[in-house]
Amino acid sequence: MLSTIALFASSRRHGNTGAVLNKIAAELRFGVVDLCECNVTPYDYAHANRADGFEPLICKILEHEQIVFAAPVYWYSVPPQMKTFIDRLTDLLELPDLREKGRQLRAKRAFVVATSGVDAIAPAFISMFRDTFAYLGIQYCGHLHVNCDGGYKDGTGERDIKAFESLLRGQ
Ligand SMILES: Cc1cc2nc3c(=O)[nH]c(=O)nc-3n(C[C@H](O)[C@H](O)[C@H](O)COP(=O)(O)O)c2cc1C
Repeated sequence: MLSTIALFASSRRHGNTGAVLNKIAAELRFGVVDLCECNVTPYDYAHANRADGFEPLICKILEHEQIVFAAPVYWYSVPPQMKTFIDRLTDLLELPDLREKGRQLRAKRAFVVATSGVDAIAPAFISMFRDTFAYLGIQYCGHLHVNCDGGYKDGTGERDIKAFESLLRGQ
């Protein structure tokens, strides 16, 4: 399998999304980065926040060929830590010394893992990822959505999880 890293954001590390992602990461043996622990601060037009956690995180991400973005649906959108990280990708377009890193993102394959409380993934949630990947030239390779209404239990969404693992393996 291509080398893979997961970027995770949720208000709880060991909730529904964390459980689904842990299962996949354990099966396919890839690392999970919790964006809540990365000190990525909000986008700053003055770029006065360059010493925060964003640039080290981007360097780490660029060591991998596949990126899994994992988050629950919160009000048809992503949790703030995921949105903050995505906003900061703007730095890669604006700062001349980071543009090469932005170009390197174009070679990456991206996937989305989401949980919510309904059967169908919120269109606005998945569109945000697809449109952002398209704008940045990142290849969108598919998503997994698990309905966790009532809480994730072992076995929930099992068939979809297996299919998603095959996708990540490139099968
Ligand atoms: C603040 C908040 C907003 C939510 N908004 C939605 C929503 O818009 N649509 C939905 O289907 N579920 C929504 N849910 C339910 C969560 O998406 C669902 O319980 C998810 O599995 C939680 O994952 P977590 O344990 O990683 O936080 C929301 C839950 C919370 C706490």
